[in-house]
Parts: sequence; structure tokens; C-alpha cells
Amino acid sequence: MGYETLEAQDGKEGLRLAQERLPDVILLDVMMPGLTGLEVCQKLKADPRTQDIPVVIVTALGDVEDRVRALEAGADDFLTKPVALPELRARLQSLLEVKAHRDHLKRHQEWLEREVRKKTKELRKALEDLSEAHRKIKLLSLEVIFRLSRAAEYRDEHTGAHIQRMARYSEVIARRLGLNEEAVESILYAAPLHDIGKIGIPDEILLKPGPLNEQEWEIMKKHTEIGAEILHGTPSGFVRVGETVALYHHERWDGTGYPRGLRGNQIPLAARIVAVADVFDALTSDRPYRKALSLKEAFQIIEEGTGSHFDPRVARTFLEAKEEILAIKEALPDTGSSKLYQLIRSLRSEEGRPVSVAAWIKSEKLKTLT
Ligand SMILES: [Fe+2]
Ligand SMILES: [Fe+2]
Repeated sequence: MGYETLEAQDGKEGLRLAQERLPDVILLDVMMPGLTGLEVCQKLKADPRTQDIPVVIVTALGDVEDRVRALEAGADDFLTKPVALPELRARLQSLLEVKAHRDHLKRHQEWLEREVRKKTKELRKALEDLSEAHRKIKLLSLEVIFRLSRAAEYRDEHTGAHIQRMARYSEVIARRLGLNEEAVESILYAAPLHDIGKIGIPDEILLKPGPLNEQEWEIMKKHTEIGAEILHGTPSGFVRVGETVALYHHERWDGTGYPRGLRGNQIPLAARIVAVADVFDALTSDRPYRKALSLKEAFQIIEEGTGSHFDPRVARTFLEAKEEILAIKEALPDTGSSKLYQLIRSLRSEEGRPVSVAAWIKSEKLKTLT
């Protein structure tokens, strides 16, 4: 019939040939020396390499029992002895079509599996790239936030340590209050922005060596609203918290703060937390007009302000975290002024009045820096 054929003398040889050559269809006699046709069929169907090859069992006419057992052994079709050639041709043709179809399905499935593996790998890589990009964007925006905060701070504080410490104190309080990690993180990153509005306060007020008069004080208070305005309208979660913190960090629990005079829980929690952290760090840092208070005095002031200046729950949480707070303070000391900042300071103290940018740019002393 034009087919390429392999012949075997018994079951064992047939099985070996099938496994080695993977034919497209197998004709099996039942009665054979050694392995019977049914046993060979069972073994072929149990082997993943040969299980898709159609098996035709050749039985004697009317041997119903053999046929049932052949079906149980996994046979695909039967031929009756003596074999009539037209029937054999028809059976082979249809089984070869079945086999071609199975082969095609198998190849397609293998191709699909390969594609899925490939795409999964690509997808995983893309997701990794994406989360790396997210991480970078977040780091960069935090970096910008921190630099922006420093820029605002630079005019009246000489190192960035204050905003670092008070942000870490705020983080400790937030976590101990049981806020979720996302909220804790946004408070950590929002806290440095609290005084960003000082950027809009004129030198002669911000840097005034003596006490402010009433009118100057009113302008100074505006740093809260200026800060909120600078940060307003952001799509970023923690900058939004920053806006709240900037606006409300000088509100007091008893309603005597500014700019709105909010009281109690009307004041957003993030601002109530930052208020404690900010005041404590200011008290325990040297300022141009006074030395730092002792830790004992500073904790005392927080305690005395509990329920009047500060949210009692927030202040108590802070006081309970004393050891953690001190560890942060220890780890982030004021590193001393930069040369440039010392220059501005020295000019100010010499002349006893605020120094304008123009004044120190013109200063002879600036040349000593370069
Ligand atoms: Fe402030
Ligand atoms: Fe501050």
C-alpha cells in the first residue's frame, strides 16, 4: 500500500521496535510467544513515548472476550482474521489521520507550553523592571523632598539633622500608635516638610536675632499656610500628608494653636504626631539664641504639655518610647555647620542684624571659601 513497515517476530521485539522507531500505527496479534499482544498493548499505552500511537488488535472472528480485554488494554481498533485488504486499507487510513491529528495537537501543545514559559519569563522580567523603576522613582522623589526641606531649613537651621531626627521620632510614634506600615511610611516622609513654608518668610523676620513683634509674629505664623500652598494639589500620597502636616503642625490640642485654632481630634493625626516630635527636637537642639535643654527638661516639657499643647495619647506614646527616641538622637547628631553657613552666621553676629543674600555674596569672607 506504499507504507514503510517494520516487522517483529514476537511481543518483546515488537515493543522494542515501537519504542525505538516510534511508528505511526501498530498492528498487534494477540497470541504471540513471550508477551501476548494485550500485554504489549498495555505497555505501549503506559509509556509516554508510545501512548499516542494507535494500536490495532488483530483477533479471530467472534472472539468477543478478546475484544473486551483489548479495549481494557487501551487498543484503538480491531481487525478480524483473516484480514481483508480493503478493510485494512480503510482502517489504516483513518488511524493514520487520527495519529497525524494527535501529533499536530501534541506539537501545538508543546509550542504553547514553550510560548507560555517564554511569555511568563518576559512578564516576570517586565514586572521586576517595573517595580525597580517604581522603587527608583520613589527614592528620587524622597530625595527631592528631603533636599527641598533642607533648602527651607537651611536659612535658620544649619544642618539637616533636625528634619531627619523629628521625622524618625514621628515614625516611632506612628508605629507605636498601631498605624499600618503605609501610614507610618507616609508620616516619616511627610514630617520633614513641616516647615517648608519658611521659604516664604522674609529674612528680616526669619533671621531676626531678637524677639518678634506682634506684626512680625503674624507673618511668621504664615509659614504654615505657605507650606500647605507649596505642597497643595499633589498626586503623591506622602506629599499630601506633608501638606496637612505643614498646615497644622502648630495647632494645639486645647485649640490655642495656629493657623486655624483647631482642637482635639479636629487636628489631623499626622500633624498631632509631628507636633510632639518637632517640639522635642527643637528643645533638645542648640539654637543661635539658646543652648539645648537637657533631655530631662525636654521630656518634662512634653509631659507638661500633654492634654494642653499635645494630644495626650500621642504624647504618652512618645514618652513611652523614650529609649527609642534617645537612640535616634544619638545616631543623628548635629554634624556642625558648613563653612558657608558659619560665614552667614558670623556676618549676622558681627552686624547684629539679618544678613541678606546680597550682603554675603559681596562679603570679602566669601572669598576665603574658594
Ligand atoms: Fe513650624
Ligand atoms: Fe521643625
